[in-house]
Parts: sequence; C-alpha cells; structure tokens
Amino acid sequence: MEEIKIIAETKEDLYEQLLPQLFSLVGDESNPIANMANIVAALKQTFPYYSWVGFYLFENKSNELVLGPFQGKIACTRIAIGKGVCGTSYQKRETIIVPDVNQFPGHIFCDGDSKSEIVVPIIHQNKIFGVLDVDSHNFNSFGETDKKYLEKLISTIAQKIIL
Ligand code: SME
Repeated sequence: MEEIKIIAETKEDLYEQLLPQLFSLVGDESNPIANMANIVAALKQTFPYYSWVGFYLFENKSNELVLGPFQGKIACTRIAIGKGVCGTSYQKRETIIVPDVNQFPGHIFCDGDSKSEIVVPIIHQNKIFGVLDVDSHNFNSFGETDKKYLEKLISTIAQKIIL
C-alpha cells in the first residue's frame, strides 16, 4: 500500500494534505472495519498531539456505544448514551470540544493522562451511528480547525464506515 505522505507546518496544512489521502484510501474499500482501522492509524501517525483516537459505535441490542477500531492505550469498552463526552456528543448529535477534561462533568477517564478531547458524531442521512473520539495529553489541544476538518472527514466517509 502507498504510504501516507505529509509535509506540513500548520495543523490546517496537515488536515488539508491528509484528508484527500484518506478519501482515496477508503474510496476503494467497502469493508467498514478495515476503513475505520486505517483512518485511526493515519490520524494517529499524522498528529503528534493525538494520544488516543478511535471509534465508539452504537450497538442496538445494548443501546450503548461500544469500542471500535482505535489507536492508543486500552480503553473503556462500553459507554452509555448521555454519559461522558462520547455519550453526550452522541445524544446531542454535535461535536464537543473539551479544553480541560477536569472541567467536563461526567467525563470518563480511560487514560489518566488525558487532558483534552474532541468528539465528533457520525451522522449519515440524518441517522447517527456512533462517534469519533480523540484525546490529547495536553490541555487545549483541539479547536475549531480540528472540528472543521474532523467533521468534514467523518461526513465525507460516513457511508464507508457504517457497519
Ligand atoms: N473520555 C471519553 C471516554 C473514552 S476515552 O477517552 C478513550 C468520554 O468521556 O466519553
């Protein structure tokens, strides 16, 4: 497989160069697990400030979010809807940026070193399927640039990652 190639100075440049490569990576593959696995690997290797990146996917029979493909330390397997940053983002159907996880009521600590977080819901044709969760070991790691590009990534590839 072709390597992901990125030479960039700014966060925006990184996303601008990575996204088209991710679109072409998943464009040729129909298996959602393979696509999610490669997406989190590419994101983790591109962004040094990502300490953990992974999917939590809605499971019908339990009515919970269940851990999907990820890169980083072992994480919580299940998250109830409405709980933590992930369950709240899923319930509200909106991206949540948490500059300081200690300030988010009900934040779920999977990694004690996590300091900030962004969670983006996976919505396709008005239906929600899960979330993409990214953590950082530094405070204030995520802002409007991450939100803009991660939302663009997820909305563009949603149909390629739905189980
Ligand atoms: N912090 C998340 C839980 C998932 S881990 O960060 C990987 C939350 O509060 O939903």
